[in-house]
Amino acid sequence: MSTESPFPHSLRTLLWPETLRNPAPVYSAWRETDPFFWFDELGTWVLTRHADCAEVLRRLDLFSSDWRRVGERLPDELIMLQSVDPPDHPPVRRLLAAAYRAQDHAALAGRTAERVRRRLAGLGGAEVEFVHEVAIPLTVETICDLLGVDPPDLDWLTSVSPSVVDTMDGGLRPEVMPAGIAARAEIDAVIAHWMTDHRPDGMFAFVAEKLRTVDVDRRLLLNSLRSTFHAGFESSARLLALSLLAFIDNPDTLQNFPENPDSGVEELIRYTSQVQVLARACLTDTEIGGRKVRAGEGVTLIIGAANRDPAVFADPDALRLDRAHNPHLGFGRGLHACLGAGVASAQTRALFTELARAGHTVRPHAAPVMWDSGTLRGVRSLPVTFAQEVVPCATSTDR
Ligand code: HEM
Repeated sequence: MSTESPFPHSLRTLLWPETLRNPAPVYSAWRETDPFFWFDELGTWVLTRHADCAEVLRRLDLFSSDWRRVGERLPDELIMLQSVDPPDHPPVRRLLAAAYRAQDHAALAGRTAERVRRRLAGLGGAEVEFVHEVAIPLTVETICDLLGVDPPDLDWLTSVSPSVVDTMDGGLRPEVMPAGIAARAEIDAVIAHWMTDHRPDGMFAFVAEKLRTVDVDRRLLLNSLRSTFHAGFESSARLLALSLLAFIDNPDTLQNFPENPDSGVEELIRYTSQVQVLARACLTDTEIGGRKVRAGEGVTLIIGAANRDPAVFADPDALRLDRAHNPHLGFGRGLHACLGAGVASAQTRALFTELARAGHTVRPHAAPVMWDSGTLRGVRSLPVTFAQEVVPCATSTDR
């Protein structure tokens, strides 16, 4: 195996403008040269092969989401489902999963489809900034419908949410942490309000009712509700916008979406991999992927790279909406697997089915602007015209 890569073996490479737009060349160069490398700046191994990433997610006895178990401090506001292990994790996961399952998902999907139709109506020939005019409002309305609460002010939400996302890259950019803590506190105030001000159905009503009889760690629960709300619109909106960009980059694919709605959604999640990175702490000295990993070391899983691993996916850089075998890691796997995958998928299916059926093709009328975040990839601005002709576009990363 050669160790010559055109791209430095550094997590900072994920923040380069050209990588933000298209990380695939970095993924394949890393996998082909050194697929399991040490990144000294953060004291972590970086894993790019699907088999290694899946193994780490499976081995809960060896790898933890709770960094307190290797002696790190976890600020109170970050104690949530994603960052705790058993015995803390199951009671809150069970409660939120029960609240999620209790919803009428067929009715929710029907309302989502109706919102999609209303939002797309009359867009033929119009110039639209897809992120702010379609993806964000749609995903905020959907998650609030699921939670059973009134959508908050979008200007406020789009001003605080990026600060929360920035903290996911906090290891590389410690200067973003104070703004992220302040943003989380603002969202926490809304979550506390929703605990008492909600519809009689919806996840908040279910949780509030159960709290009369079930005893769970309240801080863990409220932080987890915050992250459910935040992931519910931010990850989902990024999936929609990155997917539209994928359709622009791969002309003649959108119109095939209605023939393959289920495999098509899975493929969009694999191909766009907006959750690009997951992190775990090693609990016990072990060997994985031919490397010795010691207790206390970090393990950074490049999910985006795993999702393009040719050992698992034939022609991995092609967008194939009818891909049959698609064991992507885009929603995670195992104990911490995404709680809202079904809702995110249903919304994606509704949007692109409707867009394709309306006969819209998509033409960019300015270059897309990417978010400069490495952990949660995304498009910050995507100006498009819904028209007759599709052309690939260049990019800018200006903030
Ligand atoms: C495209 C949209 C989404 C993507 C790509 C995504 C991805 C993920 C991933 C990769 C994880 C695993 C984290 C880990 O292992 O450390 C996760 C966990 C989670 N997701 Fe999502 N998510 C999406 C949408 C949603 C939605 C709509 C909701 C809420 C309705 C949601 C709620 C959660 C929660 C609560 C967890 C933590 C689960 C746990 O630790 O037990 N996500 N998500």
